[in-house]
Amino acid sequence: MKKWGLWINGKWEEGTRYEPLHAPQTGEVIAEIAQATEAEAKRAIEVAHEAFQQFRWMPAHQRAGILMKAVQLLEAKKEEAAQIIATEAAKPIKAARTELVRTIQTYQFAAEEAKRIYGERIPMDAAIGGEDRIGFTMRVPMGVVSAITPFNFPFNLVAHKVGPAIAAGNAIILKPAEKTPLSSLFLAELFQEAGLPDGVLNVVTGFGPDLGPVLNTHPHVKNITFTGSPRVGKEIRKLAEFRKVTLELGSNSALIIDEGVDVGSIIGRVVEGSFSYNGQVCISIQRIYVHRSLYQTFLDQLVERTKQLVIGSPYDEKTDITAVITKDSLERLSSWIAEGVQAGAKVVYGGTVDGQVMTPAILTDVPHQAKLIQEEVFGPIVSVRPFDQIEEAVGWVNDSRYGLNAGVYTPDINHAFYCVNHIETGGVLINDIPTYRLDHMPYGGIKDSGTGREGVKFALMDMMEEKFVSFHWDHTY
Ligand code: SIN
Repeated sequence: MKKWGLWINGKWEEGTRYEPLHAPQTGEVIAEIAQATEAEAKRAIEVAHEAFQQFRWMPAHQRAGILMKAVQLLEAKKEEAAQIIATEAAKPIKAARTELVRTIQTYQFAAEEAKRIYGERIPMDAAIGGEDRIGFTMRVPMGVVSAITPFNFPFNLVAHKVGPAIAAGNAIILKPAEKTPLSSLFLAELFQEAGLPDGVLNVVTGFGPDLGPVLNTHPHVKNITFTGSPRVGKEIRKLAEFRKVTLELGSNSALIIDEGVDVGSIIGRVVEGSFSYNGQVCISIQRIYVHRSLYQTFLDQLVERTKQLVIGSPYDEKTDITAVITKDSLERLSSWIAEGVQAGAKVVYGGTVDGQVMTPAILTDVPHQAKLIQEEVFGPIVSVRPFDQIEEAVGWVNDSRYGLNAGVYTPDINHAFYCVNHIETGGVLINDIPTYRLDHMPYGGIKDSGTGREGVKFALMDMMEEKFVSFHWDHTY
């Protein structure tokens, strides 16, 4: 059984304590993972701070070169990396491979953005008293970035933090999700091989609540970037005080299907957006509002297409549905279905449980106040409801504490613009599912879905300080 220590200052260090890591699909122990103590995390931050003193001066073309080297190495090792995701996250191998394609692009975008860090010329003489001055802004790295990442995209959501941080010239302390540390540990060695100086990337594995206080309050930590639950996001924001914080939190993403849409042409995408990786995606479709004229046709086709999904081993090329990440998560999902049914919901398909696997579930008549509508499901469950007027559907979309992405299929340009103007989310995807994401798109939410934006360029800007400079000279000289 491989024992994984902590990655600090470009080498492995023995942990003081280890925990077994279980594969979600089989329950088998796949590794022993060091559980960093607060003191170890503190030391890793100090190492990162030390490394930053040199790294901050590395020219952009060299930082870009390291990122491009990482891209090449990852390209060469992408199958090995995809297998890691399949093992530790039980992500179906075809989805794991897609994640790797995206991860490689994310680092490539980071390499490109490293060379596009501009400032702005300020016309000082536009103000009385600004004569004989040249003003401009410079973007400068901040120092140590604390990156706290989730289990669902263990390579790509790490890339969205590590890539921009390196591009910016920052040092990083990375705390991966407890369930999926192996991808980050693999990445640490990969960046070492790519030529990243020792101490710029440090990986501390362990239990979030133990490490949260030091990762979010250490004086050397200047920037915090977190993807996870609103509950933890709120805690981080409190602890962070005046630090810059990017929070990518949950969602109960909605899809509107308007009158006149050709259901047959979108149904495959809707099923993909609802059940890809068992719905364990922040922008997974959770609520579907369908125009009443299409309701029954849509529901029938949704059930038919969902029945075709293959439940099986994550390593099997044909598999679509696998074990959800933990037993607790499965129990929560089942209890939310039971609560919905108690309140009048009907299970049209699925929702049965075998081991740690839930059959994709389709429900109707779910009361608007049920957890299945109001909270983030983060599992393979969708609720479908008919609407008569587009305004009504938009009202339901907005009556939520979340606001990440929403999708709208409509053949009516006025309805499309109505949705763009009135839906309260970070992103509105017209004629697409809310689950659509490219890695250079701005991505992030409003309300309890978080603050700040990822999408490499946007994350990079959040990870730098804007410094203003004014030069005063004598024009008569
Ligand atoms: C997320 O679950 O927050 C990320 C979704 C994605 O990158 O596709």
